Amino acid sequence: MCGIVGYIGHREAYPIVIKGLKRLEYRGYDSAGVMLYDDESGIKVCKTKGKVLDLEAKAQEGFTINGNIGIGHTRWATHGVPNDVNSHPHLSNSGDLVIIHNGIIENYAPLKEELIKRGYTFKSDTDTEVLVNLIEEVQKKENIKLGKAVQIALNQVLGAYAIAVFDKKNPNEIVAARLGSPLAIGVGEGEYFIASDASPFIEYTSNAVYLEDGEMANIRLHKPLKIRKIKDDSLVDPYIQELQLNLEQIEKGGYDHFMLKEIYEQPSVIKDTYRGRLHPNEGIVQMAGVEDNLEKFLNAKRILIVACGTSWHAGLVAEYIFEEFTRIPVEVEYASEFRYRNPIINKDDVVIAISQSGETADTMAAIKLAKENGAFVFGVCNVVGSSISRESHAGAYTHAGPEIGVASTKAFTTQITVLTMIALRLGKAKGTLSSPDFHAYLQELELIPEKVLEALETNDRAKEIAAKFKDAPNCLYLGRGYNFPVALEGALKLKEISYIHAEGYPAAEMKHGPIALIDEQMPVIVIAPKQGHYDKIVSNIQEIKSRSGKIIAVVTKGDIQVRELADYVIEIPETSDALSPLITTIPLQLLSYYIAVMRGCNVDQPRNLAKSVTVE
Ligand code: F6R
Repeated sequence: MCGIVGYIGHREAYPIVIKGLKRLEYRGYDSAGVMLYDDESGIKVCKTKGKVLDLEAKAQEGFTINGNIGIGHTRWATHGVPNDVNSHPHLSNSGDLVIIHNGIIENYAPLKEELIKRGYTFKSDTDTEVLVNLIEEVQKKENIKLGKAVQIALNQVLGAYAIAVFDKKNPNEIVAARLGSPLAIGVGEGEYFIASDASPFIEYTSNAVYLEDGEMANIRLHKPLKIRKIKDDSLVDPYIQELQLNLEQIEKGGYDHFMLKEIYEQPSVIKDTYRGRLHPNEGIVQMAGVEDNLEKFLNAKRILIVACGTSWHAGLVAEYIFEEFTRIPVEVEYASEFRYRNPIINKDDVVIAISQSGETADTMAAIKLAKENGAFVFGVCNVVGSSISRESHAGAYTHAGPEIGVASTKAFTTQITVLTMIALRLGKAKGTLSSPDFHAYLQELELIPEKVLEALETNDRAKEIAAKFKDAPNCLYLGRGYNFPVALEGALKLKEISYIHAEGYPAAEMKHGPIALIDEQMPVIVIAPKQGHYDKIVSNIQEIKSRSGKIIAVVTKGDIQVRELADYVIEIPETSDALSPLITTIPLQLLSYYIAVMRGCNVDQPRNLAKSVTVE
């Protein structure tokens, strides 16, 4: 993971790099560092364990912050514990070269051994320090410029990287390269920016070049960008894209946390996601990526869904929806398992890869495997231009806008929205969904943003319940049918931001084990909307009650039966069973949020996590 930033131009680099690192902290935040260069004082490096704020504080203690060239890094540790020494940037032994790196150099150990034999010494435990010294060794041996040395060194390296390298012998240049980790270059007037995504430079330029895997760039002051393939040195024409992102989208807009802002954005982003695609009056739902490949979907013998974390939960919801609407068999796999278990993939399988960031390494690897085996891959991503969106044969974007809070919220509901629309389109084309049902779903989907808005009115109730249960050591989440994956997602949200142990279960599975956990200390959150298996879930609630568990039930407005049994109810508006995850998930997000806030946790940057998991 990790976030990288760089600047070369006419402005002071320090504020640009620091602000950029703050925007990229979602990618990792266990240490941070910056390198600045100016002709008078040469290379200056400041780095520390902790967040970018800690870096700023350290920089105030005598670090001179001038210089028009700078690179910076925010880290999510892979090799070497988070401490000052392991923080990036790393310098080569001569002190001439400086590097920042996002990714993992897998063969760093033999390379390091070889370099030690040649007299190199290492201060840190990182794979990155090996890479910068390898570049130095190549440069010295061949007597070549930085770009060429980086290229030769990278051809000896196995693993993943997005790097920026600076050489004080030629201080008007930064060399950047990528393989498996994202890297964008902002192109301004007489200035360039480098970053893991475009958010650090959006206020300076809306022109960006996304490096493709296996490409490197020579970024030189007052010279055009030069991009080449690392493997064979062939030149590539830089494709400059105009960015759609705006600054407001990536700021908190008056909310205490990004997570809360993103929870509240759901009515509007669900609308953005279906806008132009859903036309209930005309009885049309269509997405270009699906229309262009309709035959592939209709002829699919099986749909395989690959994803991780919350996106995997969206995949599970989709399994219920696709099988119901289209009668195509669906399997949902953790991408990390799929890629390593020699799965059976057929040419007539459609593989749907779901990823908010579009950069998750395991999901990316699962896609590559599916493609190698001849399957058609359809990506459902949020980040436009992301690696997964480019690697897929076709796809549909969720239009959730930037999701900064590490805990995924609006990505989940917009993913479900896209997947529901695909299932509706296919169900109609296949005739597996009756025409009245198809039209009713279209109309109901259009009403979802209003109902999500109504579900957000549970905010105060969620806060009240959070205050009662914030000190609980454990929590169980139960749901059935479409709402079983919502139970998993509710539990994931709670554990990742509040550090309370939580588990999600299909409600009926409780009696096969987890019921043993229930006593008067155990909060059990039951998702019990009126539709679906309501009577069955009422029985499950009885089972909890008779064992003195504390029941918090998410129910449809006006429910009487569950109210009589539950200790607390949270009322949500009614919708169809298949669409209910879009509503039931809202109070669970709020509940986790308030519990975490009341426990004093860092909601937007929970410990040990990162937003974009670009390492396997
Ligand atoms: C949980 C969360 C993670 C991600 C997972 C996949 O709140 O954010 O579980 O869902 O890391 O990430 P993407 O969707 O970017 O592939």
